[in-house]
Amino acid sequence: MEVKEGLEGIIACKTAISRVEVEDGKAILEYRGYNIHDLAKHSTYEETAYLLLFGDLPSRRELKTFEEELKDLRELPAQIIGLLTHLPPFTHPMVVLRTAISYLGSMDREKHFIDYDHAIQKAKSLIAKIPTIIAYYHRIRTGQNLVHPNPELNHAENFLYMLKGEVPDRIESRALDVDLILHADHELNASTFTARVAASTLADIYACVVAATGALMGPLHGGAAQKVIEMLREIAVPWRAEEYVLRKLERKERIMGFGHRVYKNVLDPRVVELRNLAKKLAKIKGSKWFDIAEEVAKAVYKHKGLLPNVDFYSACVYASLGIPDDLYIPIFAMGRIAGWTAHIIEQYMNNRLIRPRALYVGERNRRYVPLKERP
Ligand code: COA
Repeated sequence: MEVKEGLEGIIACKTAISRVEVEDGKAILEYRGYNIHDLAKHSTYEETAYLLLFGDLPSRRELKTFEEELKDLRELPAQIIGLLTHLPPFTHPMVVLRTAISYLGSMDREKHFIDYDHAIQKAKSLIAKIPTIIAYYHRIRTGQNLVHPNPELNHAENFLYMLKGEVPDRIESRALDVDLILHADHELNASTFTARVAASTLADIYACVVAATGALMGPLHGGAAQKVIEMLREIAVPWRAEEYVLRKLERKERIMGFGHRVYKNVLDPRVVELRNLAKKLAKIKGSKWFDIAEEVAKAVYKHKGLLPNVDFYSACVYASLGIPDDLYIPIFAMGRIAGWTAHIIEQYMNNRLIRPRALYVGERNRRYVPLKERP
């Protein structure tokens, strides 16, 4: 039995949702066959979510219907608002998110219906409600009135509006829209794999998404984005970046926002888009984080040969948008929910229980000593 630590390189399932491959030394990321660069340039989050869920780009009429359905599903039941009010205000928003999703599940009498039509309906509801959960919780914990969803606004615009209480400008909302597209799916990343493992037991969709949110929160996955901004704040000025990186590497500590299990020595295509976005926003908003980030990236490459990952420049994008640090991971979830639900449904539709084996390395055949004979 050969053990592949971290399941590195193991092909655990078939999928028709996203393709991550390296061709001629260049990384490719496609959703349902469409290149991520084309989607970032031309698509919207709503259209991308439709593509991931249904497999094809929508017609104009299909997209309009889908957008309207999401708008109708944005508002939260009063019980969920009550829950957000009662959680301690120091609760991390990711913990709030998974608790609220679990509560939504408890309110759905048909949560165990996992046929295609029911699963799609629940996926739409989760895509629509996650931004509202995040924005409402933030307003509640900061003692501000709730700003209810505005059906005149698209998904990204409406989130920023509910969070900040004013309609964002076109540059801000498009930046978030593109960021959400870039986060919408990424094959068998840890949280999506977690969601598929739960789905393979035929657990309900809320349970699968709660499992995925738990995995996303860890600093080696989506939690890295929050750590990146904390690092940039600690560095504070570009000229301190190299000394910071060297100190970290000397102590054998990880630098958050760098390295990737799949993109080894090739640049993650999402990073190209996010870097451009971060640079543009920093210029417009007069934010200093991009310049510091660039110096960190240069130093990490020079001293460790590692490239930045998706969490590195997305942290600069969120900082320029004035988003609180602890909302970075929930915003990742807000994008990834489309991919998670698409994968859960793909797993339900062609299921076999995911149950790998482990190589036992512990002691064997030990003689049981009754408690009274032990010291
Ligand atoms: N900072 C410093 N060193 C890093 C590193 C980082 N961010 N990421 C990897 N390395 C180093 C490891 O220490 C190891 O070095 P060594 O061979 O000298 O011991 C080598 O690179 C391989 O690392 P490994 O942990 O085996 O790679 P992995 O494929 O298991 O890990 C990640 C992938 C993403 C978990 C890892 O790169 C990481 O921890 N990154 C930081 C967290 C992060 O940004 N996560 C978001 C991912 S999208």
